[in-house]
Amino acid sequence: MQSLIIVGGTRLEGTLAASGSKNAALPILAATLLTGETCQLGRVPQLRDVSTMLTLLSSLGVQVVSAEPNCVSVDSGAATQINAPYDLVKTMRASILVLGPLLARFGRAEVSFPGGCAIGSRPVDLHISALEAMGANIVTDGGYLIASAKNGLSGVDFRFGTVTVGGTENAMMAAALARGDTILRNAAREPEIVDLANFLNQMGAKVSGQGTDTIRITGVSALGGCAYSVMPDRIEAGTYLVAAAATRGRVRVDGISGALLGVVLDKLRECGATINEGEDWVELDMEGKRPRAVDIVTAPFPGFPTDMQAQFTALNTVAEGRARVTETIFENRLMQAREMKRMGANIVIEADTAITAGKAVLQGAPVMASDLRASASLIIAGLVADGETRIDRIYHIDRGYEDIEGKLQTLGANIRRIDA
Ligand code: EPZ
Repeated sequence: MQSLIIVGGTRLEGTLAASGSKNAALPILAATLLTGETCQLGRVPQLRDVSTMLTLLSSLGVQVVSAEPNCVSVDSGAATQINAPYDLVKTMRASILVLGPLLARFGRAEVSFPGGCAIGSRPVDLHISALEAMGANIVTDGGYLIASAKNGLSGVDFRFGTVTVGGTENAMMAAALARGDTILRNAAREPEIVDLANFLNQMGAKVSGQGTDTIRITGVSALGGCAYSVMPDRIEAGTYLVAAAATRGRVRVDGISGALLGVVLDKLRECGATINEGEDWVELDMEGKRPRAVDIVTAPFPGFPTDMQAQFTALNTVAEGRARVTETIFENRLMQAREMKRMGANIVIEADTAITAGKAVLQGAPVMASDLRASASLIIAGLVADGETRIDRIYHIDRGYEDIEGKLQTLGANIRRIDA
């Protein structure tokens, strides 16, 4: 097991480059199953979750070659397996994203039922409903989803009862090879959905409306290989900008546009940050000032992203004033509060809301990571705490942040990884 040791009190100053988006790379890698040809992918982040997806694809018979960092060649021509095993799916819920592509390409799929995780029960009922509406037969047996579509899949006019990113992605990928037209209503609008749709179209699919709540797909008989570069990671970039704000510093993130960060930049301005934007960079400057606390209510895109909630909760614990952060997407995504209290944070949980009264500094302490974004928020808390903070179970962080201590060290942070 590894831990991170942080000695707080340094303002983050400098420039770093955004990595490729985890939440775009995972569905795009799953989508390579839709073709028997080779896909050359660029800006693929080196993360545990990406490694898990590549291992899953290899177990399905896909040839994966990573000749250089962040570049992956995927050849699904030899793919013959249709079983996504429990021991892989249990480590990464996003494995469910191979269900739609396997069904569409092979007419069969056996995917272990992804369990819940720290932040919630994470059901997949909407994924199943959408695929059944396209003609799939899906039963649960022995903890596996056993899916078949003997006569192939057919286009459908389907409305999601709840906005679901993964459900929209699975349905979009399946519809790409279905017979006829599909309309997905109340679809997720996240930029990662747009990136997946653009990748599918690069493969020869006919997807339109991505980024709106109504996505239209005209099925085609086959998809081809292509070359594609994954979009930058807006949550990773947002995390570093929040860390800069919490430490009263000045940080520029290259390789990402402000448009991708959307309301996150509005909230950072509300904290008192000066934000400058270029075509493919964003800079935050606190001018040495202590941030003001901000109220947050998470919502599906273009609302405030749930994946940035924990980071702002950390910022609020050292910001000026009181604030309320309300999590509306997942039922248990305020766990970071418990660990922050151990660092002296004045934070009270009332149902789905974290209420904070900011303090100038926190006290360093040993804390434990629980899920990916809660772990990132503990790093932010450690950066602004007096003394040393040790964060255990940092495998949670390695799932979604590429070289986080290396990037923070380039910004002047006193942070190191140890084998605990
Ligand atoms: C994706 O998860 C992201 N993961 C999550 O990022 C992100 O927090 C989430 O979207 C919301 O933006 C990836 O893209 C790999 P959902 P996903 O389906 O697709 C309910 C991170 O930190 N729901 O949009 O699993 C569900 O319970 C991760 O990078 C159903 O009820 O999220 C939740 O309340 C964490 N039935 C809500 O919808 C379903 O069939 C949104 O979930 C599916 C979802």
